[in-house]
Amino acid sequence: MTADFLTETIEEGLAEIQVPKISSFKDWAPTKTPVFYNPRMKLNRDLAVVILNVFQEAIEQNLIIGEPMTGCGVRGVRYALEVKDVKEIFLNDLNPEAAKLTRRNVKKNRLSRMIKVENKDANVFSSLHSAPKKRFNVVDVDPFGTPSPFIDSAVRALQNNGLIALTATDMAPLCGVHPKACIRKYFGRPLRTEYCHELAVRLLAGCLVLQSAKHDFGVQILFSHSTDHYVRVYGQIQRGAKEADNSVEQMGHILHCFHCFNRKIIPGFFTPYKLECEQCGRKYSVAGPLWIGQIFDKHFSFSMFDKAKMLKHLRNRRLNRLLSEITEETDAPPTYYVVDRISDKLELSVPPKNSVIEKLRSLGYIATPTHFNSNGVRTDAPAKIVKEVITDAVNETI
Ligand SMILES: C[S@@+](CC[C@H](N)C(=O)[O-])C[C@H]1O[C@@H](n2cnc3c(N)ncnc32)[C@H](O)[C@@H]1O
Ligand SMILES: [Zn+2]
Repeated sequence: MTADFLTETIEEGLAEIQVPKISSFKDWAPTKTPVFYNPRMKLNRDLAVVILNVFQEAIEQNLIIGEPMTGCGVRGVRYALEVKDVKEIFLNDLNPEAAKLTRRNVKKNRLSRMIKVENKDANVFSSLHSAPKKRFNVVDVDPFGTPSPFIDSAVRALQNNGLIALTATDMAPLCGVHPKACIRKYFGRPLRTEYCHELAVRLLAGCLVLQSAKHDFGVQILFSHSTDHYVRVYGQIQRGAKEADNSVEQMGHILHCFHCFNRKIIPGFFTPYKLECEQCGRKYSVAGPLWIGQIFDKHFSFSMFDKAKMLKHLRNRRLNRLLSEITEETDAPPTYYVVDRISDKLELSVPPKNSVIEKLRSLGYIATPTHFNSNGVRTDAPAKIVKEVITDAVNETI
């Protein structure tokens, strides 16, 4: 059986996948082809393979995996071939051409016994898997734009201690360009700060926590990252009202002073009102409610770093660098300062980021780089000290 459009076979990870032939489209974009395949998301899938392997070892169960929006099936086929001890995979896409091509890719990789392919709306698919014996250990929601409309059904389709992975590509709402859209989708206010990508992760995690809490499920965020044009969050669901309460207690707000770079984290659900910056007296801007708990689990992130080294076929510099940066920042506090933004405001040249980190450490503060921004410094030092350190670092290089 052939498709009604030109296809080509590509290799990704250990899979051989038939995808729409890129060179046959005049203005190729993954969303404009009859079936979705985006080669730029390979890193996202590579990381997911690492995470699922670490997760499988942690829960010591044969995995049942669901992917409500699978496109050409590349992700699910890779999970079947590259994750240890997978029992069953259910792939789904609303687009009949996608379901057809996914079936072909499953066959091509000799996985028909392990993978079932469905052609439903994602929420119908997940809801049909929410009955006790039909649930997944892992559900991977990887849509166009926001995953928010699909989170509720996805968490219901998870067994206790199951893992949910969420991709969000709608960075304009999440980074504060369209704040109303962010409030509609994520129930929280974004801010156009220099650390808006971290706020995006925290808004997405907060949305997951709230949509899980109404079912009495708590969430532990195991890992997250911001890469290219998207953010991704991995949360482990724990069933129970107490677990849900514990998660909701880690919701709060991040206050930001656009005048002096000061920021403050406030736990609690209700929007703080008319608060003044303690450093300069101007009014704070408010992001949230959002997740103010950990966005990387230290042990899990280190296990991923080790696992990525062991999975030889995944070896690549970008993946290793990302994991190494994240292992450095797991213990550091929320939000980061971007050295060139502060230098610009102070009308200074830009000192090397590492000299700023070293100086902050010599003063007794936590200071680490962050994968969120190549010029970012995550630290518990107040904005005033960060500015002084940057000024000193510039003066020393003159
Ligand atoms: C970003 S692509 C998925 C990419 C895939 N997960 C991967 O890793 O290559 C989003 C997919 O969602 C499908 N889709 C859009 N709305 C849907 C819905 N309501 N239910 C199920 N699938 C849907 C689209 O047809 C598209 O294939
Ligand atoms: Zn201020």
